[in-house]
Amino acid sequence: MQPKAKFRKDYRPVDFTITDIYLDFQLDPQDTLVTSTLTVKRQNSDATQLRLDGHSFEFLSLKLNGEPFSKYQKDDESLTLDLSQFPAEQFQLEIQTRLNPSENTSLQGLYQSGDGLCTQCEAEGFRQITYMLDRPDVLAKYRTKLTACKSKYPYLLANGNRIAQGELEDGRHWVEWEDPFLKPCYLFAVVAGDFDLLQDKFTTMSGRVVDLEIYVDRGNLDRAGWAMESLKRSMKWDEERFGLEYDLDIYMIVAVDFFNMGAMENKGLNIFNSKFVLANPQTATDDDYMGVESVIAHEYFHNWTGNRITCRDWFQLSLKEGLTVFRDQEFTSDLWSRPAKRIEDVRMMRSVQFAEDASPMAHPIRPEKVIEMNNFYTVTVYEKGAEVIRMIHTLLGEEKFQKGMKLYVAEQDGKAATCEDFVSAMERASGVDLQQFRRWYSQSGTPELTIADEYDEKRQTYRLHVSQMTPPTADQVEKVNLHIPLRVALYGENGQKINLQHELLTVSDVLDVIHEHQTFEFHNVPQRPVPALLCDFSAPVRVDYNYSTEQLLTLVKFADNEFVRWDAAQTLYINELRANLSRFQQNQPMQFSEALIEALTLVLEKANTDPELTALTLTLPKETEFAESFKVIDPAGIAAVRDFMQRSIAESLKDRLLVVYNQNRLPEYRVVAEDMAKRALRNVCLSYLAFTDVGNTLVHKHYHQADNMTDTLASLAAATKAQLPCRDQLLADFEQKWHHDGLVMDKWFMLQATRPDENVLEIVQGLLEHRSFNFKNPNRVRSLIGAFASQNPRAFHAIDGSGYRFLVDMLIKLNDTNPQVAARLIEPLIKLSRYDAQRQTLMRRGLERLKGLDHLARDLFEKIEKALQ
Ligand code: ARG
Ligand code: ZN
Repeated sequence: MQPKAKFRKDYRPVDFTITDIYLDFQLDPQDTLVTSTLTVKRQNSDATQLRLDGHSFEFLSLKLNGEPFSKYQKDDESLTLDLSQFPAEQFQLEIQTRLNPSENTSLQGLYQSGDGLCTQCEAEGFRQITYMLDRPDVLAKYRTKLTACKSKYPYLLANGNRIAQGELEDGRHWVEWEDPFLKPCYLFAVVAGDFDLLQDKFTTMSGRVVDLEIYVDRGNLDRAGWAMESLKRSMKWDEERFGLEYDLDIYMIVAVDFFNMGAMENKGLNIFNSKFVLANPQTATDDDYMGVESVIAHEYFHNWTGNRITCRDWFQLSLKEGLTVFRDQEFTSDLWSRPAKRIEDVRMMRSVQFAEDASPMAHPIRPEKVIEMNNFYTVTVYEKGAEVIRMIHTLLGEEKFQKGMKLYVAEQDGKAATCEDFVSAMERASGVDLQQFRRWYSQSGTPELTIADEYDEKRQTYRLHVSQMTPPTADQVEKVNLHIPLRVALYGENGQKINLQHELLTVSDVLDVIHEHQTFEFHNVPQRPVPALLCDFSAPVRVDYNYSTEQLLTLVKFADNEFVRWDAAQTLYINELRANLSRFQQNQPMQFSEALIEALTLVLEKANTDPELTALTLTLPKETEFAESFKVIDPAGIAAVRDFMQRSIAESLKDRLLVVYNQNRLPEYRVVAEDMAKRALRNVCLSYLAFTDVGNTLVHKHYHQADNMTDTLASLAAATKAQLPCRDQLLADFEQKWHHDGLVMDKWFMLQATRPDENVLEIVQGLLEHRSFNFKNPNRVRSLIGAFASQNPRAFHAIDGSGYRFLVDMLIKLNDTNPQVAARLIEPLIKLSRYDAQRQTLMRRGLERLKGLDHLARDLFEKIEKALQ
């Protein structure tokens, strides 16, 4: 039986809805009994069939208004009640099911994580608990009673407020919860287990006191503080910037070790991958601290954008995800550094999202066709979705954007909405026409702007000729013109910024690109300017403008905007890589250009005044970032050239790097922006110095002097990348110290998986048997197998096909245990069209091997089908 696709155009409102749900869980790891009592309300008087979604449980019984009911049909994924003899407006269904959470390795529905039990219902996991109208436009009130062994599960949690509890004589206890807010079943959650609990309080802007609770595995209390601080900052920020206040009296976060994704915004009871909760200086890096804070914020912000206002159907996922990512990006930017956050997000867009647009999985931020919804929790829906919101923000400005938000919330609170509802509110509140802009929701692919310029010295006029074109994508051949906000700046040759004027008026620095070809003319331009194009990445597009090296140096040196300086340096890196890649491919010696050294010398001169941007600019793009500027990717060539660039920079700038390295040593570890910037700068210097003659001594010392994970990991990474003599000893030391801690070991597994060594695949295969590895834990799988496939392109794309064979072997196992994780890991294999014929043949062979599997999960099926087309 082939999985069937669903189409956005086929959306129909329900015939029956569910208004109230009472759920009774008799919890047990092997044998959980669920009784669900649904109040069903007819919406369509002609309807005769009620089809409920459900699978992967044992169905025990069904009653209608208290009487056993047998007029139903059951298949692998649903139960359809025949109500042709039953015209009632409203009735009750009671459904009993039996579950085995300990054997649920899919980590959807109710499953066991460590010694606890928890749920994951988004997108369609609720149907693994009981039969239900499992769709986000069915909004109901929930009451949940949990009963379990008290010594094993002292905490029994569900959404909303605790309304009653009691003890039973057999050692079990029970707790009853009620959530006063309407919600779809994907936001339902329960947790049972034994935890350490961190408690705090937050007073909202209207003066209500909210209990804050963070539940972590016993012994981890010293790692929960940062998450709590992050939560309070998020609550405060959402009040101040968006005027949005929390609505329940309690907010709970539970950290679990087994989790498919980052975290889940279940109403009042967030469940998190422990990776995004636990942090202390010994176990977490600066990046981990930032990751925890932004995911805590993201899930908290969903309380309004996602929960109070949810999605009508899953095609609208970006309505909540794009908007919530935009909100968490703004939060981080307001609290830390706006340019640094922007650079991080743009790197992700240009590498991962652009690659998705060019892949068989290309889709608009609002997909038209879905087989497995879990496959659409993508960088396109999330990050490009956030870019689309950001463009609306750019076009409207903060004030009108906030007016739009207010209107959107006023109109849609308590409802299941669409992307159109959001855009329409923005449009009506601001008066800005978003008609053409709407196409961003329906068109996939990465638009390309080709820009040429012209300076008329006599008339002091400067023209930008802009053309837009979106190449066809796998899902959509015909493309239309988009409304693209193009932010520009003009600089004189000594770096002075030139005012943008038309006739005598100052004009906006955001150009509205709406046609296929357009010319923008600027007057009173006293000299030929150097243009900065797509400043702050004002739209998710590629720009093709033929910069000279001198122009790029001018921008790196003078631009008053950090992003522009960084971006000009990126172009220099890419040009350098391109030039040497063709030399490498023609077996000519590589040469390192003076210009790049000049640029980086300039960058290093700002080490004291702006350590953060210096660190970011000095960071060499990853292989996967370089790869995106090629139609056909040469993974071995890119790795070799990047390696050469790294060594050349290290050799040429050794003395300067050493000075900066020594200047930025910190006396103690603090999570503050200033220190994080210095650590980042010092550690990027170390990453280069590792390739010089002082490398081994320096790295070894760095490791042993480190009093925090950021520095420890930086030295370990430097030792592995540069293959230093101290490497094996440091890796062994780290393993000895941390082998009992999976989250920390993930960093070690990732370093192993991305080693430059010839025999890295053998090493990775050996590590599948490592004492800290566990095939059932998605974090372990991602950090070893996932990192090998997606972050070590040289080894994964080895021309003998060994990397592909290994991944396919792993996917065959994961197909049975955890298809959702399998479908994530397959990504590098479905991008076959980006490689040469020989690799394509090998990749295709791997995909075909998977396609032939007996029980191929729909998650993998959908991607393999598309890849083989
Ligand atoms: N809504 C969650 C978030 O954005 C992600 C849940 C994804 N779950 C899934 N099964 N794909 O934080
Ligand atoms: Zn989200």
